[in-house]
Amino acid sequence: MNEKEMYILGIESSCDETSFSIVKNGRENIATVIASQIDIHKDYGGVVPEIASRNHVKNITIVLEECLEKANMKMEDIDAIAVTYGPGLIGSLLIGLEAAKTLSFLYHKPLIPVHHIAGHIYANSLVKELEFPLLAIVVSGGHTELIKMTDHYKFKKLGGTLDDAIGECYDKVARVMDLSYPGGPKLDKLATKGETTYKLPLPLKDDSYNFSFSGLKSAVINLVHNEEQRNREINKEDLAASFQKVAVESIIKKARKAIKEEEIKHVIVAGGVAASTGLRNAITQLGEEQKVDISFPPMKYCTDNAAMIAAAGYFAYKAGRVADLSLNSKSSDRLS
Ligand code: KG4
Ligand code: ZN
Repeated sequence: MNEKEMYILGIESSCDETSFSIVKNGRENIATVIASQIDIHKDYGGVVPEIASRNHVKNITIVLEECLEKANMKMEDIDAIAVTYGPGLIGSLLIGLEAAKTLSFLYHKPLIPVHHIAGHIYANSLVKELEFPLLAIVVSGGHTELIKMTDHYKFKKLGGTLDDAIGECYDKVARVMDLSYPGGPKLDKLATKGETTYKLPLPLKDDSYNFSFSGLKSAVINLVHNEEQRNREINKEDLAASFQKVAVESIIKKARKAIKEEEIKHVIVAGGVAASTGLRNAITQLGEEQKVDISFPPMKYCTDNAAMIAAAGYFAYKAGRVADLSLNSKSSDRLS
């Protein structure tokens, strides 16, 4: 295997996106194809696991072929296969994992297991080389965590949410405001047009690195219901702006503390909520204030995709993480 040029095929199917990607040396995107099921799940207001699995089965070979075609490559040109083994929806994960194992067996390629959150972190490697010590602010639909990395593939969790994830909170607040699924991006857009006129409680004002979003979510839901009962119109732009300000502030406070106490050089943002304009602006400001490098994943690779899995796969492989065909999917698993 040519050490200088390593082409990894990444596979992601942990939720409602079926995606394949080919990434060179963990840094350069060669081709990525993402089949999203958002339109299918929209009618249900959220992802229906059984329907998601069925659609992964339908899409998986089509997306693989499209990806190889886009890259103008054959399976023989690939050096290794990286796949999300967890966490995620077990039925969905299994489809990607079985595809990865089949390809690994057929073409005699190493199989690399990738934790979904490691993938979100390494989406940043597609724009900037990671510098250590690094702080990863993980903000997705299922996770809200501060992770410190002292080297490639050396993760230490500083803290995380005690209840809801931030993306889940965005989506639930958006739902009570009648915004369609997934509400996070719509709420973020509305927030740019509003004023922070509604008073909402700042969650978990303690000294830990932990977060809590369920109280904030309930505060918004109660506020909307109270206004409805009084026949008063909600100003959606203002409510979105007020909610986003508090959600973002709670992330910034804890991130600032980590940057100072952990002597951080590089701050990266990972997960779907990394696409939020409000959060991006606040983190950019924090970087200037604390004089640390900041990077965000490319917009299209903030939410689930296989480019991030292929990028992480390269560094996982370098760290000796290779699996055999007994690899199983896991609905939950600690990042290590
Ligand atoms: O990382 P991701 O694709 O899936 C998980 O691994 O969970 O994140 C999806 C989450 C959803 O909650 C979605 O509403 C949120 O990311 N999201 C956003 C934005 N784009 C996606 N939240 C706020 N602002 C956005 N622009
Ligand atoms: Zn994700």
